[in-house]
Amino acid sequence: METVITADYDELSRLSAKKVAEYIKPDTLICFAAGDTPLGMFKELVAMQSRKEIDLSAAWYAGLDEWVGLGPQDEGSCIKVMTEAFYGPARIPKERIRVFDGLDPDMDRQCREMECWISSRGGIGFTLLGIGMNGHIGFNEPGTPETPGCFTVALDDTTKSVSQKYFGKVLPVTTGITIGWQSLYEARTVVLMASGAGKAPIVRESLKGPSSVDVPASLFQKHDDVTFMLDKAAAALL
Ligand code: F6R
Repeated sequence: METVITADYDELSRLSAKKVAEYIKPDTLICFAAGDTPLGMFKELVAMQSRKEIDLSAAWYAGLDEWVGLGPQDEGSCIKVMTEAFYGPARIPKERIRVFDGLDPDMDRQCREMECWISSRGGIGFTLLGIGMNGHIGFNEPGTPETPGCFTVALDDTTKSVSQKYFGKVLPVTTGITIGWQSLYEARTVVLMASGAGKAPIVRESLKGPSSVDVPASLFQKHDDVTFMLDKAAAALL
């Protein structure tokens, strides 16, 4: 387990993008979290591509999660965030991206299709995850099951209240769909990011506490190739 502590959010974004760039290889399956933390890193990646340092369109992509009931038009949906912050500016061809459709009435089908997308590419090669305020990873909430593959989950109260920052209003979201942590754990390389003083207590639990499903980020402590990328504020309690 490696821990990188940066001076601030800008340096976190730059160094994380540099790390990601090492893994953007033709036909590697990449899984990025949405959320606020990676937004600066996405900008850096797009800038690296415009300087012709990397080719982001050569990889495959799997969307980590989605709010059930939200679609591409909805402010704060993972697909809208990722399209505006990354898939669009990076000009990733549509056929290289698979995301959960949060509007599909058949979530089991969404899970099956994502599992098939992942397994037919030999599993996830690289994943970059954000640590939630409750230690969640994707929508693997505290107490997350050991179930392999993808699943829907009743959202934790913390996730529901934090979610309002993405929507710009109160939305009664109750359920998420996510790639399960077991599939993420099978990735060859895992990066977990956190930024800001608000994350410091859960970062401490994730790195220094017991490895437990109660704090899903802590499950990655034992991964063979995991890096926690933190800015100074998020790392303050380590
Ligand atoms: C988003 C996701 C979430 C976030 C986490 C941190 O796709 O999977 O697990 O990564 O909630 O969110 P931010 O970065 O907004 O603090």
